[in-house]
Amino acid sequence: MRYDSITEAIGNTPLVRIDPAVHGLRHIDLYAKLEMLNPFGSVKDRAAWNMARPGLADAAERGATVVELSSGNTAKALALLAGMHGLRFKSVTNRMRVPEIKELLLLLGAEIEELPGQSECLDPTDTEDPLTRFHQALAGDGSAYLHTDQYFNPRNTEAHAAGTGPEIVKDLDGRAPDWFIACVGTAGSSTGVARALREQDPGVRVVGLVAHKSDFIPGIRTIDEVHQVGLFDPATYDTMESVTADEAIDGMLTLIRRCGLLAGPTGGAAYHGAVRHLRAMDAQLAASGTADRRTAVFIVCDRAESYLSYVRQRRPELLGRPPRKNSTRALTDAEVQAEAQVVNTDDALRWIADGQPRPLVIDLRGPRAYTALHIDGSVNIVDELFDELVRGGLPFSKRQPVLLACPVGEKSARYAALLTRMGHPDVRSLSGGIVAWRDAGAPLVRD
Ligand SMILES: Cc1ncc(COP(=O)(O)O)c(C=O)c1O
Repeated sequence: MRYDSITEAIGNTPLVRIDPAVHGLRHIDLYAKLEMLNPFGSVKDRAAWNMARPGLADAAERGATVVELSSGNTAKALALLAGMHGLRFKSVTNRMRVPEIKELLLLLGAEIEELPGQSECLDPTDTEDPLTRFHQALAGDGSAYLHTDQYFNPRNTEAHAAGTGPEIVKDLDGRAPDWFIACVGTAGSSTGVARALREQDPGVRVVGLVAHKSDFIPGIRTIDEVHQVGLFDPATYDTMESVTADEAIDGMLTLIRRCGLLAGPTGGAAYHGAVRHLRAMDAQLAASGTADRRTAVFIVCDRAESYLSYVRQRRPELLGRPPRKNSTRALTDAEVQAEAQVVNTDDALRWIADGQPRPLVIDLRGPRAYTALHIDGSVNIVDELFDELVRGGLPFSKRQPVLLACPVGEKSARYAALLTRMGHPDVRSLSGGIVAWRDAGAPLVRD
């Protein structure tokens, strides 16, 4: 293999069969499409190159900076592509939550602008969201930016409709698989691959995977966030299912330790989601007595190495550290619902005004979102730090009443349930979080 440019090495990734002794499916052959073997390290290499390519020459002439709303793989690929073309790259984000990735982006020469905002993808109707304002500025005439616009750019999807999907069909000897399972971030890869597979066989069933409601899996959305993505069309998926961060890590461990695949968390999530979904299908095939074999394909988006701190935080015992105690992750949704005291905005306003003693209001959001708008008198303890304090020692006594606030009231409910369990008699969670507080017109201040 001899190339004039590393971009020629994008695509044509291997399709590798998972040993049935590992997944246990008896009638279904399960294959992993190894997008992690793209040259910049992920499935996003294809989209980044396809989106940036048409504008690079003009951008070089204008001295424009390549810009994208991304905190991960798209930013990584674009930083490298920009560098190759003598351009600067700027990553704009509000969710730079994995430190290794931030450091890697800086190493690649990227400029990182961290903005407050509710979600990295835009809600164009929310004119107050700084990300939306930034997006509007980019669309203005004479912009000094080449904005690749991954959440809305059809060239993101097309990269996979023209490349990833047809490659899968070719490697399956001209046939589409019976099932295709993929995690959903911008929805570009799942939508593009699904389109190509359905052109081959309209009967392909497509499973879209998202992170469980209150969980974070870097690179993909939760079911609530996914509807804000411009490229997301619910009709693409026969079913949408969610995966917890723990399940993603379990899947990642299986791929690494049993299959020789150095997959990251979304590869693990895709494996876990695929096997869970297919187990029921496999049982139906067994009951029908058919001798036919079926085929399923899932995507491994990127590699494990960038996620050591993510794993350390959630499963320290895997990295030789003591296991976590007092963890919200050990609580089931039903336990949170049963044990968390939850207050709506009106009751919270009354409690803050009249409480004897007054509750301490703790805002669990990131510092930038807090700086932009917060409840007057609240203190900011970022979720990750609060998590450490719960285990290491909280800066308030059990007698102190506490109101916890997070973006939408999910994380705060988990902490309220956990602290109640730990013997704090009056810790409450703000229902609907700061978003509900803002929507109710309750006062917020800016620093
Ligand atoms: C690690 C990882 N997995 C999965 C995805 C999902 O891909 P898509 O954006 O095509 O939906 C992404 C996207 O950023 C990602 O970074």
